[in-house]
Amino acid sequence: MPKKSATAPADSTILRQFVARPREIGAVWRSSPALGIAMAEAVRWPARAAVVEAGAGDGAITEHLLAAKPPGVPFLAVELNRMCAHELARRLPDLRIVVDDLANLCSICAREKVGEVGAVVATLPWSVVPEDKQTEMLEAILETLAPDGQLLFYIYIQALPFWRRSPFARLLEQRFRSIERSGVVWKNVPPAVVYDCRGVR
Ligand SMILES: C[S@@+](CC[C@H](N)C(=O)[O-])C[C@H]1O[C@@H](n2cnc3c(N)ncnc32)[C@H](O)[C@@H]1O
Repeated sequence: MPKKSATAPADSTILRQFVARPREIGAVWRSSPALGIAMAEAVRWPARAAVVEAGAGDGAITEHLLAAKPPGVPFLAVELNRMCAHELARRLPDLRIVVDDLANLCSICAREKVGEVGAVVATLPWSVVPEDKQTEMLEAILETLAPDGQLLFYIYIQALPFWRRSPFARLLEQRFRSIERSGVVWKNVPPAVVYDCRGVR
């Protein structure tokens, strides 16, 4: 597993896209290697079903997921922002990337013939996404995930007090059988926690 990203955290793609589309990007810096490793370690890698990363950005988490992925597990990256997707393809030329909205996950997976999806790693700016869009994306994830599937995402710690009381957090509790939260990954700007939701109800 790589211990360092290919570039420094202050790399410019995420920052430039944040300036243009702050609510869509939701972060000034790409995630740190520490958060990438924490996410990759939390994935329950399926034997055959696919893993989808949504909001892959320029690949800060992706490179750690790919390093941990067992051979033969299909992997698809979904990224809405064309500039981020372009940078992602430049850094990880063998990666299968779809430029699209996570809300279209069902049709993306059908079109790409992904088969069963065992895990969705949604490294999106959940805490700044409008509520109706959060629900739309969660519905798409729930429709796509296998019944014993896993949803992983991170939340920055400054957003946690609001996040815990949000309708989206309540919806997650209703729709997943178990939800676990990691300790704080302090070596990230800003520090973040990883949510691990399993078993679709
Ligand atoms: C906070 S950045 C994270 C980038 C990278 N995963 C990381 O952790 O460094 C969020 C990413 O989600 C993407 N994104 C936002 N809304 C999306 C959507 N509806 N569907 C797919 N990607 C989306 C943004 O373009 C951006 O690249």
